[in-house]
Amino acid sequence: MTVYLNGKYLPRDAAMVSAFDRGFVFADGVYEVIRAYEGRFFGMEWHMKRLRRSLSELLIRNVEVEPLAEVSNRLLSENGLTTGDATVYIQVTRGTAPRAHIFPDSETRPTVFAAASPFEAPQHLWTDGAKAILVPEIRWARCDIKTVALVANVMASQKAKEAGAKEALFVRDGAITEGAHTNFCAVFDGVLQTAPLSNYILPGLTRKVVLEMCAEMDIPVREFPIFADQLKDADEAMILGTTTEVMPIVQIDEMMIRGGKPGPLTRKLQEAYVRRTRKALE
Ligand SMILES: Cc1ncc(COP(=O)(O)O)c(C=O)c1O
Repeated sequence: MTVYLNGKYLPRDAAMVSAFDRGFVFADGVYEVIRAYEGRFFGMEWHMKRLRRSLSELLIRNVEVEPLAEVSNRLLSENGLTTGDATVYIQVTRGTAPRAHIFPDSETRPTVFAAASPFEAPQHLWTDGAKAILVPEIRWARCDIKTVALVANVMASQKAKEAGAKEALFVRDGAITEGAHTNFCAVFDGVLQTAPLSNYILPGLTRKVVLEMCAEMDIPVREFPIFADQLKDADEAMILGTTTEVMPIVQIDEMMIRGGKPGPLTRKLQEAYVRRTRKALE
């Protein structure tokens, strides 16, 4: 496996980062995950835009984001991933410096890392739907920045796994913000509802694409908090993400949604999403 680190393409085991890297010491960094279909990235420019924003919010400067799209292409080629399903992971940290909370001096070069991996599509969960659990929101108040400080998401995801669930949904002040690695939607009387963009959720590309598709297909949308105690009235539920795509949620904790079967609106959006993401291949 060939990876990219600070301008060089290296064998995976030769890619070394200092133990004083601020990503390691403080989780002082940001990342993106981009999905490739048959060697073509979906939404690369949008991911680069979100990466620029994350860097700018954390005041991590002197990062050339533009070339990372080309780096991602080369990683697919170097790793034999120009066919089939793959992802590219990009991480940028504030760089290596003696440990101190304050920013290091302005000459410190950010660390830029990228790696491509084959992706195994969770076909059975797309078909049959998945289970989710509710967990208390314990994350910070800037979930709109895609930082590598993911320990709350890690704890929640592990809890979900141990409960036989695919996703953990965070509940803040009674309302579901989002999942540990996805955005969340529910359907009430034909209206697709999802939390509004705020500092408490990541602005997901998949969420954005789904809302655009709803507009195209005349599906009414309500960007408004979904309260956990409303879930019993939900006709359908789904989670959205770059690798998750549009995944039906058929059970939340012990509660079955729509008798445990994916609903018609979810199916419609899944099909539209597949058409949209694979369109580049036609
Ligand atoms: C916390 C969180 N919310 C939402 C998403 C979905 O974002 P996207 O659709 O851009 O992958 C992710 C993706 O990693 C995430 O980590």
